Amino acid sequence: MNSEGIGSKRQIQNTRLAANGQGGGMILDTVAARGLVLLGCGKMGTALLTGWMSAGLPAASVWVIEPNPTDWLKTSGVHLNAGVPASPAVALLAVKPQMMGAALPALRALGGGATLFVSIAAGTTIASFEAALGPGTPIVRTMPNTPAMVGRGITAICGNTHATPDDLALARALMAAVGEVIDLAGEHQIDAVTAVSGSGPAYVFHLIEAMAAAGEAQGLPPGIAMQLARATVCGAGELAHRSPETAAQLRVNVTSPGGTTAAALAVLMDPDTGLTPLLQRAVRAAADRGRDLGK
Ligand SMILES: NC(=O)c1ccc[n+]([C@@H]2O[C@H](COP(=O)([O-])OP(=O)(O)OC[C@H]3O[C@@H](n4cnc5c(N)ncnc54)[C@H](OP(=O)(O)O)[C@@H]3O)[C@@H](O)[C@H]2O)c1
Repeated sequence: MNSEGIGSKRQIQNTRLAANGQGGGMILDTVAARGLVLLGCGKMGTALLTGWMSAGLPAASVWVIEPNPTDWLKTSGVHLNAGVPASPAVALLAVKPQMMGAALPALRALGGGATLFVSIAAGTTIASFEAALGPGTPIVRTMPNTPAMVGRGITAICGNTHATPDDLALARALMAAVGEVIDLAGEHQIDAVTAVSGSGPAYVFHLIEAMAAAGEAQGLPPGIAMQLARATVCGAGELAHRSPETAAQLRVNVTSPGGTTAAALAVLMDPDTGLTPLLQRAVRAAADRGRDLGK
C-alpha cells in the first residue's frame, strides 16, 4: 500500500472513530496502554492491524501470534511470536475456525476476566470459546466481511453474559477501524448475518459475472462486457453508499416508465422467478450451512 493510500485511509478511520459516538479514540488509548494480542494475521488480521495502526495504535502495543508472517508484518514493529503480555486489554482471534482448537491454548492463561476476547471466526460459537477459555471470560463474537480490506466492511457483534457495555464498546471501536459496526440482539442472529453480509460480497462478485455474461449474450466483446458490468456494480454501490435515499428510491430514480430499465426490472422483480425469491433461497442455504457448521 502506498503512503498516499495509508494517509487517506488514516483520515477516514480517524473520522470514523471520532464520529462513532463511542469514544473510539479514547478506547484505543486504553488498548495502547494495556496491549492487544492478535491471534492469526492472515487476510482479515492484516486488514484489522492496518486499520488500528492507521488510527493511531502504536505497533509496540501489539503482540501478534502468526506462524507465517508476511514481510510487512515482520517489519511492522509489532511483537511477533514473542509471547503475550500478562494482562492485555483484548485478544482478537483471527485464525480459521478449523485452526481455533489448536491455536486457543496459547491464550488460555488470559481467560477468566481481565482480558476481553473478540472473535471474527465464522461458525465458532460463544459456548465453545467459553469452554476453551474458562468461566468468567468476556467474549464478543463478530462477523466482519472482506470489504474490511479496503476499510469498507460491515461487522455485526454480540457478546456473552460476561461482556460489559465497556467490552462491547471496545469491540465496536476495534472493528470500526475497518468499516461500519452493527449490534445484534444475540448470537442467534449470527447465521443470518453471515448469510447476508459475511457471504454477501461473493454474491455481488457473481452479479458482476452474470451481468457480463448477459452483455456478451447481447453481442458485446467479453472484455467490454466485463468492464461495463464491474464499473456499473461498483458505481451503483458507491452511489448507494453516499446517497441518503433508500435503495428502492434510487431504483425508482433511474427507471422511466415504459423504458429499458423498466423492461429489465419486470423480469428481475417477478415475484415467482425474480431476484427476490432467488436470493431468499441463496441466503437461506447459507444460513442453514452456517447452522450446520456451528454444531
Ligand atoms: N475472509 C473473510 O471474508 C472473512 C469474513 C468473516 C470472517 N472471517 C473469519 O476471519 C478469520 C480469518 O480469516 P482469513 O480470511 O483472514 O484467514 P487467513 O488469511 O487464512 O488467516 C488466518 C491466519 O492464521 C494463521 N494461523 C494458523 N494457525 C495458527 C495458530 N495456531 N496460531 C496463530 N495463527 C495461526 C494462518 O497461518 P497459515 O497461513 O500458516 O495457516 C493465517 O495466516 C476466520 O476465522 C474467518 O472465519 C473471514
